[in-house]
Amino acid sequence: MSQFAGKTAVISGGAEGIGLSIAKALGEQKMNIVLADIDQENLLNASAELEAAGVSVLAVALDVADEAQWQEVADQAIARFGKVHMVVNNAGVGGDSGPIEIQEQRGWQWALDVNLMGVVYGAKVMVPVIKQHGEGGWVVNVASMAGMGGVPFSGAYTATKAAVVALSESWAAELTRKGIHVSVLCPAFVQTRIYDSERNRPEQYQSDTANTGNENSFSNKTKQMVENGIDVSIVGKRVVEAINEGEFYIFTHPNYRSVVQQRSAAIDSAFEKAAQSPLLQHIVDQKFDML
Ligand SMILES: NC(=O)c1ccc[n+]([C@@H]2O[C@H](COP(=O)([O-])OP(=O)(O)OC[C@H]3O[C@@H](n4cnc5c(N)ncnc54)[C@H](O)[C@@H]3O)[C@@H](O)[C@H]2O)c1
Repeated sequence: MSQFAGKTAVISGGAEGIGLSIAKALGEQKMNIVLADIDQENLLNASAELEAAGVSVLAVALDVADEAQWQEVADQAIARFGKVHMVVNNAGVGGDSGPIEIQEQRGWQWALDVNLMGVVYGAKVMVPVIKQHGEGGWVVNVASMAGMGGVPFSGAYTATKAAVVALSESWAAELTRKGIHVSVLCPAFVQTRIYDSERNRPEQYQSDTANTGNENSFSNKTKQMVENGIDVSIVGKRVVEAINEGEFYIFTHPNYRSVVQQRSAAIDSAFEKAAQSPLLQHIVDQKFDML
């Protein structure tokens, strides 16, 4: 029997795209699914689609940037299914992009609040709920290949995705002793509507230099690449496969391996330079501790 059967997953941004793909794949494993999304119309459509496929599903409105709304999701999930075993922090937006000098605070704030704080709140609220029953569980954070190497003209998106990779590494070390397995999903291009995330930008984050007008905008630069990306249905199945294998970094694009290899080689060579520096010879062989 699947290790997921009869357990419950909460998936943010689950109304379409990668979140819905993960919901379908986990639903096929007989998990109960809590879909949470800011887009209430799509949420109802997605929920109906899962129900028609025989999945037990609860749909809850959620803006991931609002911690109180996460608590409401947890309360409703427990009222319906009794326990939560997995949180998939998937909701994400492109954020503002273009040359550094034109990017405004409100555009940065939108990316930070959704892509970073949305993940932080998801874990902050759901991890205690998972710990409570003592059966262990999973935290799956959705970052991006952008979190594995800087993407030009997309500073906000890149920064938030790199942060999600980093905090996943931190949480993995923290939560393993509680039987909670942490993973970070790092896709490259997948056929979804991520290039059109402006549709989900609330009023308070509107900026004058928002995406559509400039040629380096997230929307303009990513649309073609996303449309040529892999089929979204693969991603959910890949997540199930990877969790079953106990993978921490979950990749969907093996052809992007060289991006990480080049970055690692550049970092290693920078360490070699430091090791050769006359200024640092006194600590070259010193033992170090990590917390
Ligand atoms: N599609 C790709 O090529 C790709 C590549 C790498 C990473 N990702 C990441 O995958 C995740 C899912 O994106 P996708 O490609 O499925 O895009 P998508 O735009 O198709 O889906 C995003 C979902 O998140 C929801 N959402 C947006 N803001 C929200 C908020 N504040 N609160 C709750 N829900 C919100 C949307 O309504 C939508 O249902 C994102 O974190 C994205 O950065 C996507």
